[in-house]
Amino acid sequence: MLNSFMTNNRRSFIKQAAVLTGAFSATSLFNQAHAEVWKSAERKVAHLTPQQVATDEDFWAEIQRAYTVSPNIINLNNGGVSPSPLVVQQAVERYNQLTNEGPSYFMWRILDQGREPLREKLALLAGALPEEIAINRNSTEALNTIIYGLPLKSSDEVIGARLDYPHMVQAYRARATREGIVYKQLTFDFPIENDEQIVKAYEDAITSKTKLIHVTHIVNYVGQIMPVRKICDMAKSHGIEVIVDGAHSFGLLDFKIPDLNCDYFGTSLHKFLSAPIGSGMMWIKKEKISKVFPLLCDDNPQGADIRKFENLGTRSFPIEQGIGEAVNFQMAIGSKRKEERIRYLKNYWATKVQHLPKVKLHTSLKPEYSCAICGVSVDGVTPAQLDAALFNQYKIHQVSIVFENVSCVRITPHVYTTLADLDKLVKAITEIAGKAT
Ligand SMILES: Cc1ncc(COP(=O)(O)O)c(C=O)c1O
Repeated sequence: MLNSFMTNNRRSFIKQAAVLTGAFSATSLFNQAHAEVWKSAERKVAHLTPQQVATDEDFWAEIQRAYTVSPNIINLNNGGVSPSPLVVQQAVERYNQLTNEGPSYFMWRILDQGREPLREKLALLAGALPEEIAINRNSTEALNTIIYGLPLKSSDEVIGARLDYPHMVQAYRARATREGIVYKQLTFDFPIENDEQIVKAYEDAITSKTKLIHVTHIVNYVGQIMPVRKICDMAKSHGIEVIVDGAHSFGLLDFKIPDLNCDYFGTSLHKFLSAPIGSGMMWIKKEKISKVFPLLCDDNPQGADIRKFENLGTRSFPIEQGIGEAVNFQMAIGSKRKEERIRYLKNYWATKVQHLPKVKLHTSLKPEYSCAICGVSVDGVTPAQLDAALFNQYKIHQVSIVFENVSCVRITPHVYTTLADLDKLVKAITEIAGKAT
């Protein structure tokens, strides 16, 4: 047992090292742009824990420099979609130019050769088998494919939540209308700092007809991290499958998908992974692939080959292949370091405004319950007014949310966010709250 653990660990170390070599390979754009400087920045922090590195401004300055964000507005809506670093943009542009030298030749015969290595790279990042990974365009596509593809029949029950993403809610409702499945939604009043309360809410909703639970890993409206592993363990004890919406978790939290103990997972790579805009990924546990029908055609729709979900017809190969540089970028930072840095940025501004009169946070600041996203509101100021004041007076872009039981402005930093930007946010909230009546 111990031996096999060590062999597995060693194997995964060798694989990790191989991908890192890929990240720093002499020919990659990443190498040309960053490898030398990053290696020396990395040497300076190698002895520190990810939490300690999170506060090392010299280290993060190198990463900030890799982005090309506007110097004139402050973008704190990275939860909506994130920018790509320059190397990723350059990769897409380069592949696009190549494509246009002869699309059918360069796309289908040259760039397409990169799909299997990319699958392996994503699998390594996800801690999964390449045979469990399909590359597509976003979470909506990944999760809708699974939701519509599962063999549910009339009166089968699905449990979700009111604060799941509308595209998934709508897909379940469509199946309810067309096929008579029963779709139930739980109501949570976030923030909740009690895993058992959340798990119990799902468990209490289970009946003998429940076939599926849908969980949003990080709730996009207020950033609550859901206890996915505990929900999955509970669901398994009842023989129920779980779909995880990982739109906001993959590339942000340091985890391996199989460790969640879920059956299905979908994510957008253009959020925290900073991959090209319009890129996503689906993961299905190997033995479950054959039971999910693809949304689009395949000559063997009940087969066990994950590639049956990739028959999207002609689409952007440059965007797809550009994902590789985003994985290089992620691997070179280190997933845990990135998670801790972004959590530090969230806490940096949130703790400074937390106790101001009239200011209310809508997100727990405990590390197990939040990372990047935090909701904030000011008494006497509507979310729309707060959004307008932040943008019009301070040029801080964020998003106001009034949906179900949520009413706040959502702030989401990313690795390129500077402390100076967050100081400006703190000043803005302080001044707006100071004037509120
Ligand atoms: C929780 C969640 N799921 C799914 C999506 C859909 O992502 P996409 O537009 O990339 O399909 C979003 C988008 O913000 C989201 O927040």
